[in-house]
Amino acid sequence: MKKNRMDKRADLHEEHVSRFAREELTELPEATLVADDERLAEALGTEFWSRWSSGERVGKAWPAAGPFDAVTLRLPKGRRPIEMAVHALGGILAPGGVLYIYGSNDEGIRSVPKMFSDHFDEIDTVSYRQKCRLVRASGPKNLRSSLAEWEERHELQMDNRAMPWVSYPGLFAKGGVDDATALLLDGLEVHGSVLDFGCGTGVLSAGLLARGADRVDSIDADALAIESTRINVPEAQAYLGDGWLAVQDKGPWDMIVSNPPVHKGVAEDYGLLKSLIEQAPKRADSLILVVQRQVPVYRWLEESFRTVSRLKESSRFHVWQASVR
Ligand SMILES: C[S@@+](CC[C@H](N)C(=O)[O-])C[C@H]1O[C@@H](n2cnc3c(N)ncnc32)[C@H](O)[C@@H]1O
Repeated sequence: MKKNRMDKRADLHEEHVSRFAREELTELPEATLVADDERLAEALGTEFWSRWSSGERVGKAWPAAGPFDAVTLRLPKGRRPIEMAVHALGGILAPGGVLYIYGSNDEGIRSVPKMFSDHFDEIDTVSYRQKCRLVRASGPKNLRSSLAEWEERHELQMDNRAMPWVSYPGLFAKGGVDDATALLLDGLEVHGSVLDFGCGTGVLSAGLLARGADRVDSIDADALAIESTRINVPEAQAYLGDGWLAVQDKGPWDMIVSNPPVHKGVAEDYGLLKSLIEQAPKRADSLILVVQRQVPVYRWLEESFRTVSRLKESSRFHVWQASVR
């Protein structure tokens, strides 16, 4: 399936912000770490870190200890993930080192200097053009610079039970049960081996096991999602990686169940959903998905599966079941 207009727009936005950074950050010291921008890391030939897996590269929950003379950060999405990344990266600067943070105005880069004024001796916007900004920070102080300090402890309410639940900044549904996931699980009948594609903190994986799955494999591209699924649902096998690459040599499964991602950064992106649908018939007998009503998923499912039916709906979501038989 080809990339549609939404997918292309997400790619173009990333390229625009990364080009801004490449033009601004031309002379960085040798001991530089680039976070969350592979194009920039490639252009500069530096070490790279991201919690996210992409292609063959597997994400890491926390950056290497360094120390680094310069660190660059492509602004993550969401206030708490921004806070965690800035604290993590500020904590690996060498004495006199500099942290550069950049992003586009609509992503919240404007508020970054104020957000971290208590955590750096100096933090200022040093460039502003093409609707992007570059912020320079030095003299880190008062940082929470270990992953353990960012662990969020919740109580998950599911199936009339309260379960202790661990999450980290930026994980889906913030340690709770999302409405779409709840709709998907409501009355769901499962059997045999199941793959939870895009597991987040493991809510769906826990629900699948509670509904009688013999075995659940869970995948996610975010190293922190896998970290929390391993804590929350130790009975599931959790694999870190970008989409199908996480389970290349695993399966087949009786079923694949997913509340799939439909965004990349701030933009809508159906690329992963399409790859899930395309590959699923080769890896399992059936696929059950919950998606927002406006996502044109029926067309894509029909191209790949023999039978497709709508199992459930709410005012915002549809649950689809597709089968190879
Ligand atoms: C809508 S959330 C669903 C989370 C969880 N299953 C639930 O229902 O609470 C989608 C998940 O897909 C993950 N994801 C995004 N891109 C991915 C990729 N390329 N490969 C695997 N997982 C990905 C996200 O990190 C997120 O945890």
